[in-house]
Amino acid sequence: MKAVTTFALPEAAVALLSEIADVAGPEGWRGELADADALLCLLTDRIDAAVLEGAPRLRIVANAVVGYEHVDVRACAARGIVVTNTPDVLTEATADLAWALILATVRRLPQAERSLRAGEFHGWGFWDYLGGDLAGGTLGIYGMGRIGQAVARRAGGFGMRVVYHSRTRLSAEEEARLGAEPVSFDDLLARSDVLTLHAPLAPDTRHAIGREALGRMKPGAFLVNTARGALVDEAALVEALRDGRLAGAGLDVYEREPELAPGLLELPNVVLLPHVGSATRETRTRMAMVAARNVHAVLGGHPPLTPVPT
Ligand code: GLV
Repeated sequence: MKAVTTFALPEAAVALLSEIADVAGPEGWRGELADADALLCLLTDRIDAAVLEGAPRLRIVANAVVGYEHVDVRACAARGIVVTNTPDVLTEATADLAWALILATVRRLPQAERSLRAGEFHGWGFWDYLGGDLAGGTLGIYGMGRIGQAVARRAGGFGMRVVYHSRTRLSAEEEARLGAEPVSFDDLLARSDVLTLHAPLAPDTRHAIGREALGRMKPGAFLVNTARGALVDEAALVEALRDGRLAGAGLDVYEREPELAPGLLELPNVVLLPHVGSATRETRTRMAMVAARNVHAVLGGHPPLTPVPT
């Protein structure tokens, strides 16, 4: 059997896959698909019907990230191909990054650091480098899945109230444990001092934060996105930031990565990261291992460990 990977795997993943298959790629992986039984891929690989057409033996697409909007799951299902992702293993790293971005944005850390590097720090100034307070404010969470919940768990430490809006409501016990209050989408927008996004990208969440939603956000609020860029209408966000309607935004993801929406780079009140939510050595290694374990299971005739819903 043959497993093709689109990215460099850790040694332990290659060793595991080698128990059951020859491993090909990442160089020239597209040319290896004709007789591939398994494909390990990333969010930057578009796995659509045309790719599947050229891989008639494929039994599993093991996506080594958690989001899977780049995989045509229906086309896979129609061909009997299992699709898997990497839930759980990146939850804490991504929640940490969301908080890093919340803090960096509200306290304007990159702006302060840039100023120091530019030689503009001339000693402590009472009114210099002012940001906002988190304690006493309301954190709004859009999408209360694993990552949303991990973000909520950290909110108490910062003295923030949590409101959330999600496709699936938590149980009353979970809400009590997290101190999270379910609210309508309108109330989420109206009440959040910081709105942080943790929903998957799907037809019903694309541009959820569009011009209209941005207009209904609390004036002076902050928006943080560590989920998927297309949850937000970036052009409308640039306008809201330019007008000063929003106080700032912290973004780790973009609609058309690696392109940024026109005007975004010039805005002084945004913090921009290059999609690093799960970028820790440990987490990325775990993500690759989950993908390899899924391939090992399916090619070995067992059910996948973490299939995505079809
Ligand atoms: C990263 O963005 C992921 O979906 O895992």
